[in-house]
Amino acid sequence: DKHTLGSTIGTTLDRFINDKQGEFPFATGELSQLLRDIALAGKIINREVNKSGLLDIAGAYGATNVQGEEQQKLDVIADIRFTRALKNGGEVCAIISEEEDDLIRLNSNSRYVVAMDPLDGSSNIDVNVSIGTIFSIYRRVTPIGTPVQMEDVLQKGDKQVAAGYILYGSSTMLVYTTGHGVNGFTFEPTLGEFLLSHQNMKCPKDGKMYSINEGSYNSFEPEVKAYIEYCKEQQYSARYIGSLVADFHRNLLKGGIYIYPSTEKAPDGKLRLMYECNCLAFIIEQAGGMATDGQRRVMEIEPTELHQRVPLFIGSPDMVNKAHAFRGEAS
Ligand code: AHG
Ligand code: MN
Ligand code: MN
Ligand code: MN
Repeated sequence: DKHTLGSTIGTTLDRFINDKQGEFPFATGELSQLLRDIALAGKIINREVNKSGLLDIAGAYGATNVQGEEQQKLDVIADIRFTRALKNGGEVCAIISEEEDDLIRLNSNSRYVVAMDPLDGSSNIDVNVSIGTIFSIYRRVTPIGTPVQMEDVLQKGDKQVAAGYILYGSSTMLVYTTGHGVNGFTFEPTLGEFLLSHQNMKCPKDGKMYSINEGSYNSFEPEVKAYIEYCKEQQYSARYIGSLVADFHRNLLKGGIYIYPSTEKAPDGKLRLMYECNCLAFIIEQAGGMATDGQRRVMEIEPTELHQRVPLFIGSPDMVNKAHAFRGEAS
């Protein structure tokens, strides 16, 4: 009726966080404030991303990161923006970032640790294809007020208190979970607000799309080759954007599987456990999907180093289980 027509304005992220605060363990408002700080950083990066062609911030930065990748200017800008927003917010005692060799210590009196991929899909920045930010939030295990230790940042994915991503796509979205389901917010630039647009997101049980870089097909393990052949027999669609966040988001909405397996160039896969795999694993499990390294749940893997890589099979549960089934069969 005319009262509901076009009533797309959903709840603002701030109100949603306030309404849900009671769900947080130790609801002291600190995690709520940290989520707001992350959303603010996302708004700032969104503005830079939207203008990257106009300002001199496109292209390579002229350095390589600890991953051995050539850093893009926006990789570095996003890393700086996020770190500054979290430092100013005051809720974070340590950050690990794809773009920083070591952990960054912030406020030793604060309770939360953030693992982040400031800009995911960097190869797509200059060609105007969707890119994203991925983050995880943990509670420190050492006492507040003492210096942060590696045990505070190297925690397995099951210990996450929150995880999410920001997708700078045809619209800019923030999708996150605190362990009570997954909710998506769409940025309304004229208001400068993230508005609730996708409530209680659930991943379809099965799907007909698979995302994998078939350029590395020749070095895939036999069971991965066998699963890809199965997908082709089923006449599934191949969709590979080259930005994990974008492929993940589409699979979350429509059903599908994303695989970054072991390859000759990346024997442990390319994706990083702490700020790509664990974050999306938390989200997909909260949405009813699955995330494994081809055998084990990603979130059970005990991390041993900040930037360790693991193979990733993530998306619709029926598709991930089907991919696993070939591990036994294929010799
Ligand atoms: P990042 O840009 O943060 O380094 O991550 C890029 C990742 C992921 O976003 C994408 O799916 C994958 O790398 C693409 O890797 P290939 O080009 O090897 O397929
Ligand atoms: Mn990178
Ligand atoms: Mn990434
Ligand atoms: Mn990145």
